[in-house]
Amino acid sequence: MSTNRTFTMIKPDAVENGHIGAILEKITASGFKIVAMKYTQLSLRDAQEFYGIHRERPFFGELVEFMTRGPIVAAILEKENAVEDFRALIGATNPAEAAEGTIRKLFATDIAENAVHGSDSDENAAIEGAFHFSGREIY
Ligand code: PPS
Repeated sequence: MSTNRTFTMIKPDAVENGHIGAILEKITASGFKIVAMKYTQLSLRDAQEFYGIHRERPFFGELVEFMTRGPIVAAILEKENAVEDFRALIGATNPAEAAEGTIRKLFATDIAENAVHGSDSDENAAIEGAFHFSGREIY
């Protein structure tokens, strides 16, 4: 285990449903330190680039449309074993399969509108963090 970082977004469904505060509370109560954060909205181009790895998947258009329909909260989080621990905290992609107490179980709508994003590797955490934040925005 090492102290490192992951990247998250609170997605448009959770923002629309008024869950920003409760999700941030759960994140910090679980030992993650917020080292960068912004309230913003993805452009079409942003979302297509951010999710470019999923371009060939059947839900790509739906995913991009959803992620651009309203504001999000983007953040970089720091903790020992950050990527793995955060994936455990958010739960399975499909909230119907997410463990009790996980963020997706508590706050997600369905597999398409699943409340939060969490990076899936240290490498992607660094790429995704740099996509949203300059070095001067990370504290
Ligand atoms: S993961 O977390 O990357 O292992 O999950 P994966 O299943 O590969 O999904 C990648 C992202 O696509 C979203 N997703 C979907 N969107 C719309 N419809 C369907 N059916 C669907 N299935 C998966 C999923 O929420 C992942 O988004 P992020 O932002 O990475 O969580």
